[in-house]
Amino acid sequence: MTKIPFSIFVIVPMIGMSLAADTLGTDRSINYGETLVSSDLTFELGFFTPGKSSMSYLGIWYKFSPKTVVWVANRNNPLADRDGVLTFSNVGNLVVLNQSNSVVWSSKSSRVLRNPVAQLLDSGNLVLGDNSGSTSDEAYSWQSFDYPSNTLLAGMRLTLNLKTGLEQHLTAWKSMDDPSPGHYALELNNSQGLPQYEVVQVHAHSKKFRTGQWNGVQFGGVSLAPNPITVPTFMYDETEISFMFGVRNRQLFSTMTLNYRGVLQLFVVNRSESATWNVVHEFPSDYCDIYGKCGANAICNLSLCECVKGFEPKSPDEWMVLNFSSGCKRTIPTNCSKGEGLFEVKEVKLPNLLEVTLNKSMCLKECKDECLKNCSCTAYANSDIRRGGSGCLMWFGDLIDMRVLEEQSNVQTLYVHLSASELDAIRDCTSREIIIVAIISSLITGGLLLVGTALWHVKHTKRRIRIGDVAIAKEDINLPIYDLATLVNATNNFSDDNMIGAGGFGPVYKGNLQTGQLVAVKRLSKNSGQGLEEFKNEVLLIARLQHRNLVGLLGCCIEGEERILLYEYMDNKSLNYFIFDRKQSLLLTWRRRFDIVVGIARGLLYLHHDSKLQVIHRDLKTSNILLDGDFSPKISDFGRTKRVIGTFGYMAPEYASDGKFSLKSDIYSFGMLLLEIISGKRNRGFSNPSHHHNLLGHAWLLWSKGRALEIMDECLHSSFDRTQVERCVQVGLLCVQKFPEDRPVMSSAIGMIVNCGFVLPEPKEPGYFMERSSEYSDGASSKGDSKTQNAVTLTMPEGR
Ligand SMILES: *[C@@H]1O[C@H](CO)[C@@H](O)[C@H](O)[C@H]1NC(C)=O
Ligand SMILES: *[C@@H]1O[C@H](CO)[C@@H](O)[C@H](O)[C@H]1NC(C)=O
Ligand SMILES: *[C@@H]1O[C@H](CO)[C@@H](O)[C@H](O)[C@H]1NC(C)=O
Ligand SMILES: *[C@@H]1O[C@H](CO)[C@@H](O)[C@H](O)[C@H]1NC(C)=O
Ligand SMILES: *[C@@H]1O[C@H](CO)[C@@H](O)[C@H](O)[C@H]1NC(C)=O
Ligand SMILES: *[C@@H]1O[C@H](CO)[C@@H](O)[C@H](O)[C@H]1NC(C)=O
Ligand SMILES: *[C@@H]1O[C@H](CO)[C@@H](O)[C@H](O)[C@H]1NC(C)=O
Ligand SMILES: *[C@@H]1O[C@H](CO)[C@@H](O)[C@H](O)[C@H]1NC(C)=O
Repeated sequence: MTKIPFSIFVIVPMIGMSLAADTLGTDRSINYGETLVSSDLTFELGFFTPGKSSMSYLGIWYKFSPKTVVWVANRNNPLADRDGVLTFSNVGNLVVLNQSNSVVWSSKSSRVLRNPVAQLLDSGNLVLGDNSGSTSDEAYSWQSFDYPSNTLLAGMRLTLNLKTGLEQHLTAWKSMDDPSPGHYALELNNSQGLPQYEVVQVHAHSKKFRTGQWNGVQFGGVSLAPNPITVPTFMYDETEISFMFGVRNRQLFSTMTLNYRGVLQLFVVNRSESATWNVVHEFPSDYCDIYGKCGANAICNLSLCECVKGFEPKSPDEWMVLNFSSGCKRTIPTNCSKGEGLFEVKEVKLPNLLEVTLNKSMCLKECKDECLKNCSCTAYANSDIRRGGSGCLMWFGDLIDMRVLEEQSNVQTLYVHLSASELDAIRDCTSREIIIVAIISSLITGGLLLVGTALWHVKHTKRRIRIGDVAIAKEDINLPIYDLATLVNATNNFSDDNMIGAGGFGPVYKGNLQTGQLVAVKRLSKNSGQGLEEFKNEVLLIARLQHRNLVGLLGCCIEGEERILLYEYMDNKSLNYFIFDRKQSLLLTWRRRFDIVVGIARGLLYLHHDSKLQVIHRDLKTSNILLDGDFSPKISDFGRTKRVIGTFGYMAPEYASDGKFSLKSDIYSFGMLLLEIISGKRNRGFSNPSHHHNLLGHAWLLWSKGRALEIMDECLHSSFDRTQVERCVQVGLLCVQKFPEDRPVMSSAIGMIVNCGFVLPEPKEPGYFMERSSEYSDGASSKGDSKTQNAVTLTMPEGR
């Protein structure tokens, strides 16, 4: 283990050592309330009682932040009260005794120390040595760094000894207030000779997260983008593997902690400010980081599972209701005799090493030949990416836990083994779709969706959280607070010239910060009636929600009555500005519209099914979809709890009439958005002299007459993908069905939009807000024009 010569330790002057605040000799002991403090005043050791617990423990924490406990001695054996003492046993071990003088914890060093002395170093390491001075070149006889709790400190190593198999790992606390060994551990897995770290669920023997295997440069599945704060060091030889990190800047403190929920977090705080700990990295950091979330042979891409090319969902009905666990199977079983093909998956986290072979001396070409020769080889890749790549990893069987990596500098490519016929199938998705639809549509009907939805409800009701009730661990959030003066400056004193919009909660201004950064400044109305705590909770909630299709919260300001939120500034305004404008809408080609639809869907999927919380938007509409310079959509105005009302024309009937909102009312709004994006017309205010009075009725009518394409925005003429448009119209209609339980969940909707292989159920009648008696009471069977006069005209003002 860490061999630091003991002489470093004994250089500390011997005289008066026991008087030093960082040192414990045999002449004294430590009771509850007494502490050792490291010489630079960073760390403190003593007894503590966490949170609401009544138990006490011996631990080490940051002196400026006593709640940041970095090490606990008697995790397994707490003291029932505060009557504990830290002292030496007669063979020189550090021991904690309880009230009846029984040993509840011991440093269990095998060496007998005649004159033991313990010291708390500035690194946070508690070391034990002999003060007689003779055996000065020995290592410490014991040190706390060899027995990690849930936290790795700078300079502390996690080591796997390849000879003895001994491994140090982090073990999470059981709960926020209970340091006893909990459900998660961070372990090194070297099973195939390619090490990777894993967050495992200790008792269930299952993985929650893995870093991806070491590829010679880094752990392949984590984007450790240039990090100005820490320097990770990974050492690897025949005898041991170890990991540690250092801090670049002496002004900063940093810890790596596995919290009780199994999330590994890298925290940083500025020494001189000693304010709050900020999270700079977090693993798993999103849906796609969670181990095996997409099942076999699927790749997670921005919280959406997609089958690897040449594969299709093993059970499409489960896939549609968010249960990806069954994964994907080959569309056409491999037939090696028919010629071979390969499909390159770029910038991917390589699958877990389950059934693999590794030959470190083969090059990629040899690897390819070897894989293509062997019918059961599923995929291959280089094992080491240095110097253009070397080594051959071959997978047999299923590919598990892949994700798309973003902003990855060390790109890895996986080559999937396909047969020639599979490659043909990929090239011609449309024709395959028709075949599949023809075969399966007779088997699968809308009922499938119904069953699926019901399943979904069972599965998810437990997790449903009213956003106002979420208690958020404050230390998890890093959100800058701006002072009012800065914002007054940035917005020209909230001048009208800077106003770029007015949302439901107050005006929004364009702001120019001194750094030159443009921001959107949302000044919330003063009469929101919201308490300070409530506001803070809500801001923390919004700050947690980070996705490329959500407008990012950059900071906030709370001063006196002022409640201000700072968001990313968007170049291209909102979708309504383009889509409903005759000239501007020409910019939105079908390709762009389709990408916008998919982007909105992804953002909404994240809100609905993010792994941490569930958020119902409640006011999705074109004006809440902002577009950046590349027309990439970002949903805004989400996560506010005091949302009074949605917007007429987008509100699901059950929401409008009974105030019942659910994920499914968002789906309704999404469907409406979808139809508006396709047609370039507003649902409200839509008029068509010969037919019905809203867009929805119009779309339903056209679709049921088999003329769905006519809904298309005329400005696009015929420059669009016919199948895609038809598919989108149908998904739009599925989303606006009258009964919430008929509407798909977001993951199904998105799957139906992007996967040309998906079978779409037939939509039922749409739900019209404020309708009395339906004009289409029997669905598609009554389309008679004679009933048109009963159609309801919606003349509600836009409720912003
Ligand atoms: C001290 O620890 C011993 C052994 O764990 C236990 O039997 C005893 O009840 C404890 N005494 C107190 C006062 O907690
Ligand atoms: C490492 O991972 C493999 C594959 O998931 C698993 O079978 C094995 O038990 C793990 N080894 C350790 C030591 O956790
Ligand atoms: C830490 O805070 C001090 C005082 O505010 C500041 O001068 C210094 O630049 C900060 N250091 C870092 C690395 O952020
Ligand atoms: C991931 O999704 C994005 C957004 O839809 C898309 O542009 C990108 O091509 C996808 N990446 C892969 C590897 O499928
Ligand atoms: C997901 O589907 C699998 C079968 O493929 C089933 O065993 C599992 O229970 C389902 N999970 C949930 C949460 O419904
Ligand atoms: C593979 O294809 C060949 C030629 O088309 C055919 O003779 C053979 O039966 C096929 N094998 C399997 C397992 O489908
Ligand atoms: C690895 O590949 C090399 C070169 O192809 C070969 O000579 C060697 O035998 C292989 N090693 C093993 C263990 O298969
Ligand atoms: C394919 O590879 C597997 C695993 O290395 C091996 O067991 C099998 O014999 C190989 N099959 C052929 C036909 O080479």
